[in-house]
Amino acid sequence: MLTRTALQRAAAAPLRKACTQQSIRAASVWSQVPQGPPDAILGITEAFKKDSASNKINLGVGAYRDDKGKPYVLPSVKQAEQKILSQNLDKEYAGITGVPDFTKAAALLAYGPDSKPLKEGRVAITQTISGTGALRIGGAFLQRFYPGSKTIYIPTPSWANHKAVFSDSGLEVKQYRYYNKDTIGLDFDGMVEDIKNMPSGSMVLLHACAHNPTGVDPTHEQWRAISDAVQSGGHYPFFDMAYQGFASGDTDYDAYAVRYFVEQGHTPCLSQSFAKNMGLYGERVGAFSIVTASPEEKARVDSQIKILVRPLYSNPPVHGARIASTILNDPSLNKQWLGEVKGMADRIIQMRALLKENLEKLGSKHQWNHITDQIGMFAYTGLTAEQMSKLAEEHSVYATKDGRISVAGITTDNVGRLAEAIYKVTG
Ligand SMILES: Cc1ncc(COP(=O)(O)O)c(C=O)c1O
Repeated sequence: MLTRTALQRAAAAPLRKACTQQSIRAASVWSQVPQGPPDAILGITEAFKKDSASNKINLGVGAYRDDKGKPYVLPSVKQAEQKILSQNLDKEYAGITGVPDFTKAAALLAYGPDSKPLKEGRVAITQTISGTGALRIGGAFLQRFYPGSKTIYIPTPSWANHKAVFSDSGLEVKQYRYYNKDTIGLDFDGMVEDIKNMPSGSMVLLHACAHNPTGVDPTHEQWRAISDAVQSGGHYPFFDMAYQGFASGDTDYDAYAVRYFVEQGHTPCLSQSFAKNMGLYGERVGAFSIVTASPEEKARVDSQIKILVRPLYSNPPVHGARIASTILNDPSLNKQWLGEVKGMADRIIQMRALLKENLEKLGSKHQWNHITDQIGMFAYTGLTAEQMSKLAEEHSVYATKDGRISVAGITTDNVGRLAEAIYKVTG
């Protein structure tokens, strides 16, 4: 027989259940998750989309556009895809380190046919999820195995994602001087001084070419001095080469720093991306490599890279790597691709010249030499955050607040209007 209190408890049970469910709902599992800030670049794209002006210009996104402002699929990429389709390949998994024909060709492209470490079989390489994935695998490898201090120095400023990639890899991120606001150029003395003053054995991230966001690269002579400074400090160089060929139009020229460092006896690691130079952005094709001291050391490093990759994504996707591999390994497609890379680089160089010319024609009292001195996808205009806001609000020209514009977004049709807008906001 139920007592009075038992009866009361039983009657209250459904109510209790509802209350508990309500309190669970009120304090959900994710109630403590703070709202993160929006991605700076995606925010620009949103604002651009909302603007109803028919002549609006988006110079925020780091992707190549043709002279009509349209995304560009390289003809060599289309042909490689046709060739792959006709081979009727299966969709089996690649190995943990990816498509071997691709990684072999990627290493050759970066280090060059005369590379001693390549000839001696002592370069460990893995296919990665584009350049970002290469940096992340590199960060994880260094975090696990670099024998010195787990601090990596990146330039000021650097690609916005470098800090997050390396700190998420468990490295401490510090900075060295790179850009001189007054000259809108390289702070070479500051950079070398900072490298010399880093604790011995530090890791140093270097943009191999087309520095993002500034477009300011060291000259070959300056690279030689930087190599000396890195060597005398006993530091470890990590090259990020996201724009090989895209900067100057010549894949060998753009690989100068990497190859020079290797010749000097450095054993750097390297991140490569095929997003820009092959226009394979969404295919996510990249590679991470490490120059080691011997084939035996390479084998050990390779084994640990595999151990890192396996629990992350098992093995990389094959389609994009097959495209890049076909282009790199087929002599006639390769020649065609080199011409197309040069075509993209030349269009960007031409747009830089046109922008400067138009600003000068308008009678701008400012110096615009830096626009043509800089190289690669981006120009660091030297415009202030306030001037960049005015560009967006009053002229429907959208780019990041740091004054960086994607030159790839400039066309022969919009360069005149862009120059006028810049002229007006810079006074
Ligand atoms: C300097 C630098 N490194 C790496 C990347 C990585 O690009 P992705 O992951 O698309 O290859 C970029 C892309 O903008 C970059 O500018």
